[in-house]
Amino acid sequence: MVKICCIGAGYVGGPTMAVIALNCPSIEVVVVDISVTRISAWNSDQLPIYEPGLNEVVKQCKGRNLFFSTDIEKHVSEADIIFVSVNTPTKTRGLGAGKAADLTYWESAARMIADVSKSNKIVVEKSTVPVKTAEAIERILTHNSKGIKYQILSNPEFLAEGTAIQDLFKPDRVLIGGRETPDGLKAIQALKDVYGHWVPEDRIITTNLWSAELSKLAANAFLAQRISSVNAMSALCEATGADVSQVSHAVGKDSRIGPKFLNASVGFGGSCFQKDILNLVYICECNGLAEVANYWKQVIKVNDYQKNRFVNRVVSSMFNTVSGKKIGIMGFAFKKDTGDTRETPAIDVCKGLLGDKARLSIYDPQVTADQIQRDLTMNKFDWDHPIHLQPMSPTGVKQVSIAWDAYEASKDAHALCILTEWDEFKTLDYWRIFDNMQKPAFVFDGRNVVNVEMLRDIGFIVYSIGKPLDPWLKNMPAVA
Ligand code: NAI
Repeated sequence: MVKICCIGAGYVGGPTMAVIALNCPSIEVVVVDISVTRISAWNSDQLPIYEPGLNEVVKQCKGRNLFFSTDIEKHVSEADIIFVSVNTPTKTRGLGAGKAADLTYWESAARMIADVSKSNKIVVEKSTVPVKTAEAIERILTHNSKGIKYQILSNPEFLAEGTAIQDLFKPDRVLIGGRETPDGLKAIQALKDVYGHWVPEDRIITTNLWSAELSKLAANAFLAQRISSVNAMSALCEATGADVSQVSHAVGKDSRIGPKFLNASVGFGGSCFQKDILNLVYICECNGLAEVANYWKQVIKVNDYQKNRFVNRVVSSMFNTVSGKKIGIMGFAFKKDTGDTRETPAIDVCKGLLGDKARLSIYDPQVTADQIQRDLTMNKFDWDHPIHLQPMSPTGVKQVSIAWDAYEASKDAHALCILTEWDEFKTLDYWRIFDNMQKPAFVFDGRNVVNVEMLRDIGFIVYSIGKPLDPWLKNMPAVA
C-alpha cells in the first residue's frame, strides 16, 4: 500500500488530502501538524476550517484511509510520498523583510524529514514557495541523506477557498514539476498515478521544477491583477457616471478576456494574493528586474488604494466624521463561504473607521468574536504563523462589539458597510433594518450585493462600488 504523509493540516493540507483519500482507497493518507488543537479538531466532528462539502468528504474516509496525527516523525518515516503544506509567511525581519517568503517552517520540515527518514522518499512542495526553493530543500536533504534518495517535486495547489472541494474534485489543471532525470521522471509518474485516480490525464501538466514553482506565483499575480484592474476602473466609473458591472460585462464578453474574476469590490484579501505578489516582487528585485517588480507592486498599491477609498467614502459621506457613531459591519471573512479572515479587506476598513473613532458592531456568519479581535490587534503578517505561535494581544479593541446577526449589528447604527458577499445579505429585511437605524441611514456596499434602487426607495443613502453615485455623495470629496 502506498503511504502518503502530509505535513501541515491547514486550509490546503486538510482538504487536499481528504480528497486524495476519498478518491484513492488503496492509499493510506496521514495528515500531521505541530498544532495539537488543529489535529484534535480534525479528529472531532467540529473541523478546524469551514469549507462547503468538506465535512462529507472527511466523514467518508476518516479512520478508513485518512488519519490526522501529531506523531509527525513516525508518519513521515513510514511514508513513500511526503507533501509539505506548511505556512510560508512574509518575512517581517532581516533580509527581504516585508517581501521575501519566510521559509522557517519549510526548512524545519525538511530537516525533520532528513532526520527521521529510513527509506527513499518523494518530497512534494505543496506550499507556495519562491522559485528555486526545491533546490534549497534538495540540498538540505542530500547533505543529510545517510544514503537515502530523495526526489523533490513541485505540485502547487490552485484551489480557491469557499470552493475548495469542487476545485479539488474537478481541477482546471494539476501541475507537477520535477527533475528531468530518469529518477525525476519516475517520481513525476508516481504522483501522476495518485491524481490519475480521478483527474483526466489531459488535465495533468508536467514541467520542470522552476516552471512549476513560478507558475503558482504567476497565476496568483494574474488573478490579483484582474481584480485590481476592475477596481481601478470602478474609481473611474464613479467619477464619470459609468457603471462598473456594465463595463466588466462588456469587457468580459471578449473571449480573450473572459467573464470570470471581474467583480469590483472593496479589495482582494486572503492568505495568498498579497503574500505571493510580494514574493514575486522580491524575486524580480533579486534578479535585477526593477521594472518588472514595480509593475507587480502596482497591483498591491491599487488594492490598498481601493480599501482607503472605501473608508474615505464612508467618512466623507457622513459629514466628514464617524466619531462615536455606530457602524454595522456586515461580513468579516475575506470572501463568502469561508471563515478565513487572513488579509481580509475588512481588517483595513475596520482599522480605518476605528482610526476615525467609529464604534463598530461586526457580524459574520462564520467568523468567531475571538478571531475578529485577534485580527484587529495583530501586527501585519503575524497571522501567517501556526496558530499556537501567534502573539496574543492581552486586550481586545473596546470600540468593537460582535453581533449575532445582521439586525443586531444594524440596530441604532448610522451606517452599514457590507464587506463580504455572503448570500444572506441579499435577502435581509432592509425595511426593518431602515426602521431601526439612525437617520440619515447609509449603506456602503463594498461587494455590490444589494439592490440599490430598492434600498434608495426605502430611504437609504446607498454607495455601491463603481456604480453611479447617489446624489448625496456627488458633492462630497471622493477619494484617498
Ligand atoms: P495554514 O496556516 O492553514 O496551514 C499550515 C499548517 O502547517 C498549520 O496548521 C501549521 O501548524 C502547520 N505547520 C507549520 N510548520 C509545521 C511543521 N514544521 N511541521 C508540521 N506542521 C507545521 O496554511 P494554508 O492556507 O494551508 O497554506 C499552506 C501553504 O499553501 C502556504 O504556502 C500557502 O501559500 C499555500 N496555498 C494556500 C492556499 C489557500 O487558499 N489557503 C491555496 C494554495 C496554496
